[in-house]
Amino acid sequence: MIYLDNAATSWPKPTDVVDAMARFLSEVGANPGRAGHRLAVESGRIVYRARERIAELFSAHDPLQVVFGQNVTEGLNLALRGLLRPGDHVVTSSMEHNSVMRPLRLLEQAGVSVTVVQCSSQGELDPGDVEAAIRSDTKMVVLNHASNVTGTILPIGQVGRVARDRGVLFLVDAAQTAGVCEIDMQADRIDLLAFTGHKSLYGPTGTGGLVVGERVDLTHFRPLKLGGTGSRSEYELQPEFLPDMFESGTPNVVGLAGLEAALQWLSYRGVESVRRHEVGLAQYLIDGLLEIPGVTGYGGLRADSQTATVSFNIDALAPSEVGLRLDEEYGIMCRVGLHCSPAAHRTIGTFPDGAVRFGMGVFNTQDQVDIALMAVRTLAKAER
Ligand code: ALA
Repeated sequence: MIYLDNAATSWPKPTDVVDAMARFLSEVGANPGRAGHRLAVESGRIVYRARERIAELFSAHDPLQVVFGQNVTEGLNLALRGLLRPGDHVVTSSMEHNSVMRPLRLLEQAGVSVTVVQCSSQGELDPGDVEAAIRSDTKMVVLNHASNVTGTILPIGQVGRVARDRGVLFLVDAAQTAGVCEIDMQADRIDLLAFTGHKSLYGPTGTGGLVVGERVDLTHFRPLKLGGTGSRSEYELQPEFLPDMFESGTPNVVGLAGLEAALQWLSYRGVESVRRHEVGLAQYLIDGLLEIPGVTGYGGLRADSQTATVSFNIDALAPSEVGLRLDEEYGIMCRVGLHCSPAAHRTIGTFPDGAVRFGMGVFNTQDQVDIALMAVRTLAKAER
């Protein structure tokens, strides 16, 4: 079996992650921040260590700026729906996932105006186009760091500078890059960073969130959910400080125990070494795909300017057919179709059928890529 669906969620997970989750369930188990007994305190420590590691990874000043939630989608929804109001203007790109597009389209119906900056047919964004789209009523620029379809890395450093100069908040969707590309909230001038724990951070599903920078005005930031936080229990009003104002309800501590272990594993391994491994695999896959007659690849197809996510089509076969045959005949798992990103597929010209996507991770090998290339070559040849 060859797992090439790491852009959806990474698998396998490091054994340290599995062990930490089992340990939490068998030895700790308690609700953090709700009681003073030793197990609740230990549970709270685990959550805090996970916060510290996320803050360190992204160069946030304070672990309390890290708001945990279920996934990156929750982080994005919190930032977009919590901060944008009727009359505000927001700028985004045509390569965004529906986790950005759907909240923006809903907000648009409520009176927020949205400008979608067109990317090239290779998925590339010109930062000058973002600058030109910023108006006097622009409140925010929101961009993915890398596309979940083509892997194309967008120039967040340049856009961050533009946004900061123009006094506009900058929200980055790091779903595809957190853990594999360096992200520095200070250097990149990111005000809000939405992240997932279960992709390149190698933690479990059900973990992710939003890091809230200092420039964000909390007094005008509405939570998605309200309720018990374990703090200020004497008040019926929601606390107005981070992270409690956005973290009502019992958190996914078993997931955060796994995430904390994953972050520790990643810090030993090193983001740079993960990236080097993935660039090597991506270039090898791209070079191999480009040599196969009847195969079309999408995006810039240069490993150093994309993640290890590569989309392509076998010209004579529907992506759904390719996905099915790769699974059934070769034991290769990948994702086909629109990848919840219809805007990105429109941009690269693959809407409505979509494409076949191979998403590689740190546990994939060149031998596996060789088998995947052989499978694609065989399928493509049979159709010619
Ligand atoms: N957004 C994830 C993907 O691209 C689930 O597959």
